[in-house]
Amino acid sequence: MNLNAKAVEAMDIKLNGQVALVTGASSGIGAGVAEALAAAGAAVVVNYHSQAEPAQALVHRITDAGGRAIAAGADVGDEGEVERVFAQALDAFGRLDILVANSGLQRDAAFADMTLQQWNEVLQTNLTGQFLCARAAVRQFRRQGVCEGLSRAAGKIIHMSSVHEVIPWAGHVNYAASKGGVNLLMRSLAQEVAAERIRVNAIAPGAIATAINSEVVDDPQRREELLKLIPYGRVGEVEDVARAALWLASDASDYVVGTTLFIDGGMCLYPAFRDNG
Ligand code: BGC
Repeated sequence: MNLNAKAVEAMDIKLNGQVALVTGASSGIGAGVAEALAAAGAAVVVNYHSQAEPAQALVHRITDAGGRAIAAGADVGDEGEVERVFAQALDAFGRLDILVANSGLQRDAAFADMTLQQWNEVLQTNLTGQFLCARAAVRQFRRQGVCEGLSRAAGKIIHMSSVHEVIPWAGHVNYAASKGGVNLLMRSLAQEVAAERIRVNAIAPGAIATAINSEVVDDPQRREELLKLIPYGRVGEVEDVARAALWLASDASDYVVGTTLFIDGGMCLYPAFRDNG
């Protein structure tokens, strides 16, 4: 378990009666966020793309602990599949209160070598996927309105961005462009729907140890180099992000609208300037 029931209890956040959809939740940050939301009492739809088994295993962990969860396969870049996964969520739990648009991938290449397919694949999942899911969520939140006693908001959307929405990243222009896009998607949407009490925010993780960066994090030399970029001196853990997502999903952050919360150990502080410049 990533963020255990005790740790969630200590945060004193309750999401009982609320329903959350977390995309890309079969592993990494998505799985940790799904587990934390479930531990706080939310019913969780664990979306996955291709890894049904770990998604099912996560669902079992949640239900074994007394929570409610289902697994739902869908490619977030496909309009029809997104509609289907939202319908599944409603069928299972009757409503939706929280969307964590988390699915994301990297297809790294030097700029001149980057194929159109590598570009499109990343934009399709990381940016179009977040658009399609957020649109479906807004439509559902509008149908529901504010449900007194459940949450002060009519719905909460959390976009999973990255420090690379602000830090340029050579060799990863597709990824950085997608996350830069997420920033203005999130803020423009937040501005558009705030009056309806729909809260839209983002989380920008730095280097969190997951499969997406295991090649770097698990290699002692590359890890050493990576740590030079992190003033706080450690690689992030999934629960560092899960705690932030839990807070953003709850009424504890009710006045937080259109903000990106950086969870990065200070990666955005230009650490190379400590003894330089
Ligand atoms: C990327 C990781 C990387 C981190 C910091 C994330 O958005 O997915 O691969 O380690 O940013 O550079």
